[in-house]
Formats: sequence, structure tokens, C-alpha cells
Amino acid sequence: MSLKLAFGGKGGVGKTTLTALIARIIACEGKKVIAIDADPVSNLASALGISEETPITPIAQLSDLIAERTGATPGTMGGFFTLNPKVDDIPDRFSLERDGVKLLVMGTVQKGGSGCICPESTILKALMLHLVLQRDEVVIMDMEAGVEHLGRATTSSVNALVTVVNPGKRSRVAALQIRKLAEELGIKRVLVIGNRVRNPQDQQMIIDSLSDFEILGFVPELDEIAESDRLGTRPYDDLETVPVAVREIAQKLAHLE
Ligand SMILES: Nc1ncnc2c1ncn2[C@@H]1O[C@H](COP(=O)(O)OP(=O)(O)OP(=O)(O)O)[C@@H](O)[C@H]1O
Ligand SMILES: [Mg+2]
Repeated sequence: MSLKLAFGGKGGVGKTTLTALIARIIACEGKKVIAIDADPVSNLASALGISEETPITPIAQLSDLIAERTGATPGTMGGFFTLNPKVDDIPDRFSLERDGVKLLVMGTVQKGGSGCICPESTILKALMLHLVLQRDEVVIMDMEAGVEHLGRATTSSVNALVTVVNPGKRSRVAALQIRKLAEELGIKRVLVIGNRVRNPQDQQMIIDSLSDFEILGFVPELDEIAESDRLGTRPYDDLETVPVAVREIAQKLAHLE
């Protein structure tokens, strides 16, 4: 029943902008939404209109909490620790909310050697799995390109990987990467949003190069987004003014079969 979406795509295509807008639109309909910033360079807060003055500590940096929950030694974070920590209170305690969207910032786990299991990544994985499997809320994740730290158990349980692409020759390359990523993650459904589409040729280019994917819709180049970027504000403070194309995409996602 409840919807779990992962937004992915190459750098700078518009993942954060669209994640935030779609999260706000779905929340505006009265659904509870948790937006997850899973990008190490997190900026979902400002896209949601959460002031930069509001301190938000990424979960991965809550070392006392991580130590307490995993049983790892604070400071060194070494030794034995549980792989099954309690996390169910974390979304409510450590999120910031605006307009019905709760934001959770995951933060970065320093990579050790391959296959490293550390207390920080254990907490993040347990939390993601909890959010995807146990929460009633709509969960929307803004991901970085590589999402291996989320764990296959989490990714294979999301309803769809929503891939944002921009028009251009590289969208074909993107398509191949998306398929590979989805396969690696065990995600069966891949949906595409064509963003920054300026004309029918742009649109056609995306349709042609991604013909075997389900395309949710196209978002034009929007001055309001560029302008809010310059001002450091969230675009479309009044959701009523969001262009129809974006609202239709949000509706399709909200009522995904
Ligand atoms: N439809 C649009 N019209 C105009 N500008 C846009 C549009 N979508 C995104 N942008 C602009 O493109 C830039 C990148 O957008 P955004 O940060 O959402 O991308 P991203 O995929 O999250 O990037 P990153 O990979 O760095 O996290 C921003 O400056 C944003 O304002
Ligand atoms: Mg981003």
C-alpha cells in the first residue's frame, strides 16, 4: 500500500529539485511523507524550504546514538556490535518537518575496505530497511549515483527507481546505466522523468533513447527553478503555481499501481 520511491540519475539532472517538489505535492494531499537525503552532499533541506539556520545533524554523525544502539565503543567505534540495532524511533526524533514532509538526512559513511561493516553503515542500513518495510508513510529518497551503502534488502523493496534524465546524446548512455543499476539493486520497476526539456525534439530524443522504459512525463526548463536557485529559496513556495507537467507526474507517482 504505502509508497517507497528512490530518485536516481546522473549528477545535476534535477533529482533533488524534483524529489522535493513531488514530496511536497504528495504531502499537500494529506499523505504523510518522509523525504530522505541519501546524498553525501546533502541539499534536500533547502529544496524543501527548510532554513539553513535550522541545524540538522546527519544520522551517520550521531555517534553517541550509534554507539548506544549498536553497542560499539564510542570514539573508536570498533569492537563487536549488533547488526540489528533499534531504529524505529529515529525518523520521528531526528527529522525536520515542513508542510507535512519530514526530512531525514543520512550523511556519509567513510568507506573502509570493500565489504566493510561499520556501526555507522549498520545503523543507516537498518534505518532504511525500517523506513521501506515498516513505515506507513510515503518514503521518497534522493540518492546519489552510487547507492551501494543502502543495502540490497532496502533497494529491492522500493516500488520503483525514478530516474531523472536530461535531453542530450548522453541520455542513451544514461539509459544503459539505469538498467544496470536497477539490476544490481534488484529494483524491478524503472520510471523515467525527462527534465529540462526545451522543445519537442528534446522530448523525442528521450523517448527514442529510452524506448524500453516507462516514461512518467516531461518537465520543461523552468525559470522559477533557476531563479530560486539563485536566491537560495525553494521553488514554488505556493504549490498552486507548480506547472501542470510536474503535478501530473506527482499524481502518477502518488497513485502508482
Ligand atoms: N526543470 C528545470 N528548469 C530549470 N532549472 C532546473 C530544472 N531542474 C533542475 N534545474 C537546475 O539544475 C541544477 C541541478 O538540479 P538538482 O540539484 O536538483 O540536481 P541533482 O540531480 O540533485 O544534482 P546532484 O547530482 O548534484 O545532487 C540546479 O541548479 C537546478 O536549479
Ligand atoms: Mg541532488
